[in-house]
Amino acid sequence: MSEKTAKVEDLFMPWVMTAPQYSIAVCDTAWAHPELGRMMLNENPVPPSQKVVDAAANIIKQGNRYPDRMLRLRTKLADLHGVKPENIAVANGSSETIDAMMRIFMKPGDEFLCSVPTFEMFPSRAGLCGGVNVQIPLREPDLQYDVEAMLAAVNEKTKLILIINPNNPTGIFIDDADLIKFCELGIPLCVDEAYLDYHPQVAAKVDLVEKYPHVFLSHTLSKAYGLAGVRFGYAVAVPELIEAFNRMYLPWNVSLMAMAAAEAILDNHEEVDEKVTYNNHWMDVFVEELQAKGLKPFPPHGNYMLVDASVTGKTSQEMVDAARESHQVMIKTIKPINGKEGYFRVTPGTPEESERFVQFVRSYFGK
Ligand SMILES: Cc1ncc(COP(=O)(O)O)c(C=O)c1O
Repeated sequence: MSEKTAKVEDLFMPWVMTAPQYSIAVCDTAWAHPELGRMMLNENPVPPSQKVVDAAANIIKQGNRYPDRMLRLRTKLADLHGVKPENIAVANGSSETIDAMMRIFMKPGDEFLCSVPTFEMFPSRAGLCGGVNVQIPLREPDLQYDVEAMLAAVNEKTKLILIINPNNPTGIFIDDADLIKFCELGIPLCVDEAYLDYHPQVAAKVDLVEKYPHVFLSHTLSKAYGLAGVRFGYAVAVPELIEAFNRMYLPWNVSLMAMAAAEAILDNHEEVDEKVTYNNHWMDVFVEELQAKGLKPFPPHGNYMLVDASVTGKTSQEMVDAARESHQVMIKTIKPINGKEGYFRVTPGTPEESERFVQFVRSYFGK
């Protein structure tokens, strides 16, 4: 190596290796060990229907062609929300929207405001464009957003704010009046509605997009629609902001297969209804079982349930390890919330996996 040659790491932007990392190593373990129940990732345990599979398989015959701008699919999504196709930008999963929003609104040194704990992809992608993460702890004891503390943290460097609704990992909805306080700031606001499809009786916040041009919605078909591995998400915003998303996303970011799968399931809404019913059934079972053992499950409004098991004196890691060892189910560790240890998060698995989780609760917490 010549003296002039620097170590390649020294040539990186300073934040590339220091930004919070979003690791998907757990997926390696899950794929390598199909005997383990995958109840740690907020996935949908129900596979796509034959209609969806056929649609994706069929279009691969035209896989030699580049996709177009997917007007038909954007029209279906627009109809779902009562908006126009110009209000919809399609993405390679909503993670791509998360990445794009950071680069649309923030330059190095700007602040991204969210709560903690949160979906870790957000602080990771903010950090990767040199952004500064300002994370405000959830309010005690209900773990609702601490709206007053978040508003107090806003300053001239705050360039983007996040509200996940219902929140991950708590499953809690924010009050409309509180959400409007964030809209009124005039600062770009992402309302992430990844899990809203589990509660179709709660409308998407399209009215806020219509009223406030700096407010936008992020949606995904990874959750209630069950297409996490297919990768498809979309943003709902005013046309000017949709234009910015389309410039920031890579051209042809959504594959023909993802497009066809998305269209097929949007045309087959009973499939989503069935998946939601399945999820909500197991949530009811889990709540009952956990409460019977004196644990505190938070009201689940998505496909995941935060559980306060601090009364047991066990750490999150101990409980997660025990579930894997004794009943071959993977559940998620949760870092201490406001300094308190003893939380974990669980998502329904297949019937057999969910049953194993129930048996774990009965035996492990039964002592
Ligand atoms: C709040 C939230 N937003 C977005 C996502 C990412 O979804 P996608 O698979 O569309 O990238 C997740 C995934 O768990 C999430 O919890």
